[in-house]
Amino acid sequence: MNYENILVEQRDAVTLVTLNRPQSLNALNSEVLRELGEVFAAYEADKSQRCLVITGSGDKAFAAGADIKEMVEKETVDFYLEDFFSGWQRNVVHGTRKPWIAAVNGFALGGGCELALMADFIIASDKARFGQPEINLGVAPGMGGSQRLTRAVGKAKSMEMCLTGRMMDAAEAESAGLVARVVPHDEMLNDALKTAAAIASKPPMAALATKEMVDAAFETTLELGLKHERRLFQILTASEDKVEGMKAFVEKREGQWKGR
Ligand code: HXC
Repeated sequence: MNYENILVEQRDAVTLVTLNRPQSLNALNSEVLRELGEVFAAYEADKSQRCLVITGSGDKAFAAGADIKEMVEKETVDFYLEDFFSGWQRNVVHGTRKPWIAAVNGFALGGGCELALMADFIIASDKARFGQPEINLGVAPGMGGSQRLTRAVGKAKSMEMCLTGRMMDAAEAESAGLVARVVPHDEMLNDALKTAAAIASKPPMAALATKEMVDAAFETTLELGLKHERRLFQILTASEDKVEGMKAFVEKREGQWKGR
């Protein structure tokens, strides 16, 4: 797979995607998002791939936001007619049932923070910085920041960050629940890849169902969410991997997964 703005590599069952526009701190333009849409569609379709990690190239940024130099040229009519960045939301967020991790290696600002928030979870370098500085440009979050950041860190911090544009460092992001873990900068990507490999080694159908049920917690009432969880649990008990997993436990050996 050859792309202009991103690098894609398969390491066994893990796909590593690197945003690769270091000269503009990996700013997300329409072309990057189009390419990412293709990569996620390919990831979804490829049975050999069981987890995906997305990170930024260079030492400084995951992604410093939507590409301001692209947006400065656009008029309202263009944003509206293109339904700016909605295709991305459709492809990646609703299109991907498989797990993926954002490995945030530096600035994750605006659309960059929003991209990281779309991931199933974030692993951050101790140099990572998160923010929604759109207000400084006369706009506001447009790829989910006001919604996902608020769900992740609560109203007080989200409102403060969106209204002031201030950045959160990695330690604050961890204590606020925005990131799963903070890792020393030089070890972060390896750590994220190891975590992805660990997920990739789990029974794949159980991984899909787990992601689906955790995500349901953001979409529904507790009562319906609990019912959804129970049904998915029950469906998993019909899988060959359930039979194998429980048998392997009793026989004190590793399970061999069939993925069904
Ligand atoms: C285009 C960007 C960019 C961006 C940085 N660059 N961010 N280009 N879009 N979002 C470019 C700079 O213009 C510069 O290139 C190069 O990257 C290095 O950036 P510097 O500013 O020189 O680096 P530094 O002084 O270290 O400051 C880093 C920074 C700053 C704090 C991250 O770059 C910054 O504030 N960037 C903008 C962050 C932002 O406002 N993001 C939100 C975007 S709006 P040149 O060639 O000029 O030197 C958004 C909306 C999403 O994301 C919703 C859409 C629907």
